[in-house]
Amino acid sequence: MDNQTRKLLFEKAKEWILEAGNHIRDVIDEPLYIDTKSNPNDLVTQMDRNTEKYFAKKIKGEYPNHLILSEEGFGDEVDNLKGTIWIIDPIDGTMNFVHQKRNFAISIGIYQDGVGEIGLIYNVMEDVLYTAQKGQGAFKNNKQLLPLDKKLPLEESILVINSIWACENPVVNEKKIQELIKKVRGTRSIGSAALEFAYIAEGIVDGYLTMKLAPWDIAAGAILVNEVGGLTTNSNGETLDLLVNNTILSANKQIHNKISNQFVELK
Ligand code: IPD
Ligand code: CA
Ligand code: CA
Repeated sequence: MDNQTRKLLFEKAKEWILEAGNHIRDVIDEPLYIDTKSNPNDLVTQMDRNTEKYFAKKIKGEYPNHLILSEEGFGDEVDNLKGTIWIIDPIDGTMNFVHQKRNFAISIGIYQDGVGEIGLIYNVMEDVLYTAQKGQGAFKNNKQLLPLDKKLPLEESILVINSIWACENPVVNEKKIQELIKKVRGTRSIGSAALEFAYIAEGIVDGYLTMKLAPWDIAAGAILVNEVGGLTTNSNGETLDLLVNNTILSANKQIHNKISNQFVELK
């Protein structure tokens, strides 16, 4: 994608994400209609659906040739990454949205033929917008984020991990995960994958390990982390496939390497 095309697309996506977020803030105290999806803790509300519909309408109106890969079913059937694809999570952190009315984000990653071009993550209630354009760095409310500290040792890092992976589970060796948790300085679980990536890019947490994320949880965040010199792959260190769920490891390259080689053992 050339710089001018990327810039124009970025400005549109930025306008729309801010507008969608402003609307959510305006109606935050209105009643929620909560449904469950794959399990009783997998929540969805009218706000998730309405926000996704809003983006689908805007994108199809302005860019009829672009495709949408999104969570709530108002996007396209996407089976390959050719062309320009908007990968959207209308509300990432729906459980936080429902229970806390904060700590959730809108996440948009725009990919061209599989290459991440634009990432936007909007922390709606704090009115903080994280942005990145390929090759141009990452920003928090227009202020450029610094490159990640390449030398930060694992022992001094804060790791984002959901405690579920330290319990007995069918995916990963929990004993190794427990060793990792003891090794790092501390752990956090924020409850919005998009914000967790944004916080890595910001340098306020240092790594994120999780065993199952959907493309819309990852798309924007991987671009942001990449723009500050970090690395996001699956937990084995392999390139992500944005058409399916992935295990995820995101961190500076040194921490990434250590975690992937010494602490992740898939079952
Ligand atoms: C979820 C959040 C959560 C992560 C889950 C995701 P949703 O997204 O990002 O932090 O642990 O795996 O599904 O359902 O709130 O959009
Ligand atoms: Ca999500
Ligand atoms: Ca969601």
